[in-house]
Amino acid sequence: MNSKKKLHIETYGCQMNFSDSEIVMSVLADTYEYTSDIKSADLILINTCSIRDNAEARIWNRLREVRSLKKRNKSLKIGIIGCMAERLKEEWLEKEPSIDLVVGPDAYRDLPKLLQTVADGENAINTILSEEETYADILPVRYNSNGISAFISIMRGCQNFCSYCVVPYTRGKERSRDPKSIVNEAQQLFNDGYREITLLGQNVNSFLWNENEEEVHFWDLMAMVAKINPLLRIRFATSHPKDLSNELIQIITRFPNICKSIHLPVQSGSNNMLKKMNRKYTREWYLDRIAEIKKQIPDCSLSTDIIAGFCDETEQDHQDTLNMMREVGYEAAFMFKYSTRPGTLAHTKFEDNVPEDLKIKRLQEIINLQQELSLISNKKDLGKTMEVMIEGFSKRSKEHQFGRNSQNKVTVFPKTNLEKGTYVQVKITECSAATLKGFVVE
Ligand code: SAH
Ligand code: SF4
Ligand code: F3S
Repeated sequence: MNSKKKLHIETYGCQMNFSDSEIVMSVLADTYEYTSDIKSADLILINTCSIRDNAEARIWNRLREVRSLKKRNKSLKIGIIGCMAERLKEEWLEKEPSIDLVVGPDAYRDLPKLLQTVADGENAINTILSEEETYADILPVRYNSNGISAFISIMRGCQNFCSYCVVPYTRGKERSRDPKSIVNEAQQLFNDGYREITLLGQNVNSFLWNENEEEVHFWDLMAMVAKINPLLRIRFATSHPKDLSNELIQIITRFPNICKSIHLPVQSGSNNMLKKMNRKYTREWYLDRIAEIKKQIPDCSLSTDIIAGFCDETEQDHQDTLNMMREVGYEAAFMFKYSTRPGTLAHTKFEDNVPEDLKIKRLQEIINLQQELSLISNKKDLGKTMEVMIEGFSKRSKEHQFGRNSQNKVTVFPKTNLEKGTYVQVKITECSAATLKGFVVE
């Protein structure tokens, strides 16, 4: 008989958070099993994000819905975990009576103990940040997985202190995880049938592990993971441009199973803005990195993050972002309006002085341009044949399967009798800005 309690966990924010939810499931695996049905849950955990004001607003709205479940189920417990737990700490318990538990990103090992306190009828909180915790020995429970792609956290925290960003405050100091534990986890995933692994960190290029006076850099780690098996695809996110080394570029060229796709958040094309953002690189330096990538890895796709309307941003600064986008020719971008975050350097020192309607206008121009650039890039693929790993059936049509190519472009094709995880050659015949379409040639 199964006597485990039911845990429903909802995750918001970045991939790190999704990876953390799998760690939480593992920490609680002795007493809880996952349920996708929120109504049957004994415990609901909301893994939260603080990156922008609207990310937090979304969670407040969701909480209003979730807490109403307590009316019907008196023994239901609700916990807030992740970055918003870390940012607001005790405030949660003071302001929100429906919350029983508050746990920050470095305190998940403490969950069983904290839940005991909750079971005894008291609220529980642990938001202590750690300088060492990497959860290296915890094998995540992939409870919501497609069985093919998985994330592996290779480091935690961030100490770059970009002036707009809340992450260094919610995630603490940067620390790298023991590479042996990373390779073991990847090997285990491959043995279990996984075929794509994304190595995760806020700034993976600064991964560094010292053992017996030997240094393991990010590019060494990439090679170690890539060698597990040629059928295992390797991706990584996120690269901070300031640390993007030639060694890493070399490693990407050397292993066919390291995907030819780099996410390199630029944030702005203007040196004035980059300086104010404390990004520690210039436009020229960034473009030099791009030139090196294009020279060494001609088929590499490039994606980015952009913030519109940061403090004091002028029309010229904005134009510099647009012409930077054109110059690089990004395949894809995540684009945001600047949102001031309490406690950050930009919040205390600068004025959030670009009017809201202007922020919206600039963001829209950036989005429109990216649409154009994505379409141009996809049109260049028409007629090409490329390797795609099947990930499943298309959401729109059961007659089609989809997967992604090495460049991370979603590719749709008439269904085959091949399973997900299989590599196929797809000839591209149609495209939109978002997807490629074609048919399997072998
Ligand atoms: N570590 C990654 C990014 C993590 S956050 C890096 O350094 O590139 C993801 C993205 O959110 C950032 O790249 C940035 O574009 C955006 N972002 C972060 N703080 C923001 C803020 N206060 N307002 C708007 N966008 C923000
Ligand atoms: Fe935030 Fe900058 Fe760290 Fe990225 S590198 S998480 S933007 S502080
Ligand atoms: Fe959000 Fe925290 Fe990730 S603020 S973006 S969940 S590190």
